[in-house]
Amino acid sequence: MTDTDPRFSKILHDHREIKTAAKRIGAQIDRDYAGKTPILVVVLKGAVMWAGDLFRNISIDVEMDFIDIASYHGGIASSNEITLRTDLTSDVKDRDVIIVEDIVDTGLSLRYLESLLSRRGARSVKTATMLNKQKGHKVDIRADYVGFEIDNEFVAGYGLDYQEIWRNLPFIGVVNPDIYS
Ligand code: PRP
Repeated sequence: MTDTDPRFSKILHDHREIKTAAKRIGAQIDRDYAGKTPILVVVLKGAVMWAGDLFRNISIDVEMDFIDIASYHGGIASSNEITLRTDLTSDVKDRDVIIVEDIVDTGLSLRYLESLLSRRGARSVKTATMLNKQKGHKVDIRADYVGFEIDNEFVAGYGLDYQEIWRNLPFIGVVNPDIYS
């Protein structure tokens, strides 16, 4: 439906813009965590591509771990039910944790993760998300580092899926509604 790709009604951000956002946030993290060694907690699967960009743009000592939770279950809207599929291997007690998300939509995943990490004794918990869909929030939650604000539209690409595909695309686009309606 765009001139170049019928799967998308609009391309929101290309690879270059996303890398620029990662650079900006990486520099902020360097400043905010100077003298500390935070753990990036990458939320599988959607955040993988963004996490790679962000990780490359952090210069201070930093660790990385992964957690797999699911809320969409392959659909186009959150199921409102969070499932923990694969847990971290790190002990986060007394650690500074940065949750790395591809998108904060309803905010339910982030609320779940913040509460889990706090219960486990993390010293601090912040979030670096590639996308924030403010109009989608169902809970009062705020990401500390945001790549881009987006409208209430269904987006895919750059880690975000449509029925588990299109995560590999090097841009974020609004999915053509003809595809899923
Ligand atoms: C997506 C996304 C976030 C979450 C955000 O994950 O990666 O983790 O949903 O939505 P929320 O703010 O409404 O909770 P999804 O469950 O689709 O799993 P995936 O990353 O493996 O695709």
